[in-house]
Amino acid sequence: MKVMLVNGSPHEKGCTYTALMEVADTLEVEGVNADFFWIGNKPLSGCIACKSCVEKKKCVFNDSVNDFLDLAKDADGFIFGSPVHYAAAGGAITSFMDRAFYADLLAGRQSFYLKPAAAVVSARRAGTTATFDQLNKYFTISEMPVVSSRYWNMVHGATSEDVKQDLEGLQTMRILARNMAWFLKCKEAGMKAGVPFPKREENIFTNFIR
Ligand SMILES: Cc1cc2nc3c(=O)[nH]c(=O)nc-3n(C[C@H](O)[C@H](O)[C@H](O)COP(=O)(O)O)c2cc1C
Repeated sequence: MKVMLVNGSPHEKGCTYTALMEVADTLEVEGVNADFFWIGNKPLSGCIACKSCVEKKKCVFNDSVNDFLDLAKDADGFIFGSPVHYAAAGGAITSFMDRAFYADLLAGRQSFYLKPAAAVVSARRAGTTATFDQLNKYFTISEMPVVSSRYWNMVHGATSEDVKQDLEGLQTMRILARNMAWFLKCKEAGMKAGVPFPKREENIFTNFIR
C-alpha cells in the first residue's frame, strides 16, 4: 500500500514538508509506504481550459503535473499539503491541483476514484481553515473518501523549526496518518472479501440553461 504525499510549497524542505514528514514517518510505522512528490518551485500555469487532455490523456503543459499523473494511478491514497498564502492555498498548488484533477477527469484516467485523501495546511498564523476547506473540495468532487484527524490538519510556523515545536499540530498529523492507514487496510480487507465498488451512473450535467 502506498500513499502519495504532495508537497505544494515552493520550499522543498520547509514547514509543509515538516508536517508531511510526521505523516510519512507514522504511515511507515503502520506498514504503509509514503512517497513524497514535490511540485517544485518553477512557474506552474493554471488550467487554460483547452481540453487537450481529452485527446492527449495528460495536460498540455508538460511539467510536474504530468509527472504526478503518471505516478498517481499506482497510489492507494493521497495527502496534499499547502502553505497558506493570503488566507488561501498557494498559487502553485492551486494551479497544480486544478490541472491534475481536471486532466485526470477528462482523460478518464480514474487515478483518484474511491482512494482516500486528506489535506494538510501550514501557516504562520491565519487562513488555515479556509485553505483546508479549499483543498478538500478537490476530493469531494472526485469520489474520494476524506480521512480526518482529531483537529483540522494544520501546523503553525514560519520555519521548519517552528513547526517542530507545534506539538498539537504534529499530533494531528500522526493521528491523520494512523487513520489513513486503518482506512486503507479496511478497504483492502473489503475488496479481498468481495465487496464490490458501488454502482456508477452516467454524468448528468445541468448548467441551469433552459
Ligand atoms: C505569499 C505568501 C503569503 C502568505 N500568507 C500567509 C497568510 O495569509 N497567513 C499566514 O498565516 N501565513 C502566510 N504566509 C506564511 C506561510 O504560510 C508560512 O510561513 C508557511 O508555514 C510556510 O510553509 P512552507 O515553508 O512549506 O512554504 C505567507 C507566505 C507567503 C510567501
